[in-house]
Amino acid sequence: MHNHYRGATLESLTGRAYLVTGGGTGIGAAVALRLAELGASVTVLGRRKEPLDELVAKVESAGGAALAHPADVRDPAAVEAAVEAAEARFGRVDGLVNNAAGNFVAPAENLSANGWRAVVDIVLNGAFNCTSAVARRLIRDGRPGAVVNVVATYAWTGHPGTVHSAAAKAGVVSMTKTLAVEWARYGIRLNCIAPGPTETDGAGAALWASPEERERVLSSVPMRRFASTTEVAGLTALLLSDRTSYVTGTVLTADGGQSLGGQIYGTPVEELAKARR
Ligand code: HXC
Repeated sequence: MHNHYRGATLESLTGRAYLVTGGGTGIGAAVALRLAELGASVTVLGRRKEPLDELVAKVESAGGAALAHPADVRDPAAVEAAVEAAEARFGRVDGLVNNAAGNFVAPAENLSANGWRAVVDIVLNGAFNCTSAVARRLIRDGRPGAVVNVVATYAWTGHPGTVHSAAAKAGVVSMTKTLAVEWARYGIRLNCIAPGPTETDGAGAALWASPEERERVLSSVPMRRFASTTEVAGLTALLLSDRTSYVTGTVLTADGGQSLGGQIYGTPVEELAKARR
């Protein structure tokens, strides 16, 4: 069953249709552009209309097909309407990238119930709303599909200062693994990508606003650089594509080695050359 995927190439995104949440800016916009480059139609969801329209104009000027649909992923009815609009426009939906996120740094003891709820609602409930709206259609139509959820390595390491985001991303990883097993029989694959610090306006403003904070983040990455949105987008496309047709329930970490730590017994790697032989 569903083995018509065999032998396919990455370029087989041609003719497919995907939804990308948070698709107007940052990683989401890069993903939408990459999917369109590979021949897929993309529907971009986001709260603000202008960035979505700009993204659609970019895709169309490059000869691709895209649809902007303003929607807050926290609102199941709005998500349902977005998936319906995508289907009406492109005649199909083959999958989804849950990229929409909310985050800010706050000591947990200062985090209000509403602050906790805002982030968990966007990241975890939003991902479930979108995933179930897309998957219900795939199951109804007996068609295979793929979902990629954008998480962070702190889903399993934890991260002081963003307990809401870390807990919500952990929930997304667990949801991914659970649904990968539950929906394997329908040919629906679900995977996560865990990018390290990525050069975008949104995360940058929220998490490393000053040059000092930026330096501190860079010093935690063995590769000593941020990920580009293009790198993250390429891997997301790979996980949607038939190249990964036997891959489900996994997390692909692309963090320049950050989550492995940059030190050995407290010695910065730059100092190792000076170590006694
Ligand atoms: C403390 C804060 C706060 C802050 C908001 N709140 N910002 N508390 N410090 N800096 C509190 C508010 O006071 C309020 O609680 C509650 O959170 C909801 O705030 P609203 O502004 O009403 O919510 P909303 O308009 O829904 O905005 C959601 C948001 C916002 C998450 C707060 O920041 C947002 O939409 N961000 C989206 C973009 C984003 O953050 N992208 C970066 C993702 S990076 P009270 O109690 O006052 O009512 C990422 C991964 C990074 O996720 C991984 C790096 C490796």
